Amino acid sequence: AESLRVGIAGLGTVGASVVRVLTEKAAELTRQCGRTITVTAVSARDRNKDRGVDLSTVSWFENPVDLARSNEIDVFIELIGGDEGAARESVKAALEAGRHVVTANKALLAKHGVALAEIAEKKGVLLNYEAAVAGGIPVIKTMREAMAGNSVTRVFGILNGTCNYILTRMEAEGLTFEECLKDAQRLGYAEADPTFDIEGNDTAHKLAILTSLAFGNKIAADDIYLEGISNISQADIRAAAELGYRIKLLGVAQRTESGIEQRVHPTMVPTASVIAQVHGVTNAVAIETDILGELLLSGPGAGGNATASAVVGDLADIAKSRPGFQHGPVFGRPAKELKTYKKAQ
Ligand code: HSE
Repeated sequence: AESLRVGIAGLGTVGASVVRVLTEKAAELTRQCGRTITVTAVSARDRNKDRGVDLSTVSWFENPVDLARSNEIDVFIELIGGDEGAARESVKAALEAGRHVVTANKALLAKHGVALAEIAEKKGVLLNYEAAVAGGIPVIKTMREAMAGNSVTRVFGILNGTCNYILTRMEAEGLTFEECLKDAQRLGYAEADPTFDIEGNDTAHKLAILTSLAFGNKIAADDIYLEGISNISQADIRAAAELGYRIKLLGVAQRTESGIEQRVHPTMVPTASVIAQVHGVTNAVAIETDILGELLLSGPGAGGNATASAVVGDLADIAKSRPGFQHGPVFGRPAKELKTYKKAQ
């Protein structure tokens, strides 16, 4: 099969990590997808910035909308961020031009996801967004594919790495809120505007997407009760600990008699509970259903590598979505030829 040609708009922490993973894991991805995946074009504000990756052979576009419509790409990856402007316009342009889209943009999906999905469906292309919710945790694929047929009664979890990182370090090390937030920004966890993290908006965006997958309603981020962690003090954390609780910022969506309830707020969880053991930048999503019962997924929720892992997974899905493609390992080399399985002499 021909190479899958990829255009990336936005080369911040996540964009640079995606380029690096695609370069370093090129052979592995080719084996898994049965074709190569090549970054052919990019768009970013600063062309001369050193991002630690080789971009010498790719085309540069000043305007992401031009990249989105370019004939040089099959897939458009949107990593610009924001729910309007360049992000929205470029994703719309890419879909309308018949390009598949991969995005990590939860704010965009929370606001315009329904309209964008309609364009994708009309054009017969894929709009993949695994990286938009809970970083590297494959919760979208789990809910869309692996849990088909289940009726969800409740979905909840820790959906913002920055907040969980701050709360964890405040409790474990007695640091101030501000010190922890600064570190989260330095480590590339926080949003460009960290208000979205600490006031709960980012959690709300992700929850709105999960709610829609769980209950089949239209994405309704504005209907979410919202309270962030910016007022949580050391005194609150100590008081909770004395009573046997930890404070976690949770997003919760559940079916009630009066409809689907969605809320985001700091929650006291018993110190012995599983959710209380989710530390640092780790996220966790709990899903309760009629057939499966209770499922808990946890893993890295923010940062370059975690988010890139989900973006590359979405990309690989597109690379593999062609008629008759069989997964490599089924027809791959016999296991005994793989070095790892050879018995030591
Ligand atoms: N700022 C987000 C977080 C990034 O901290 O979880 C991942 O969506």
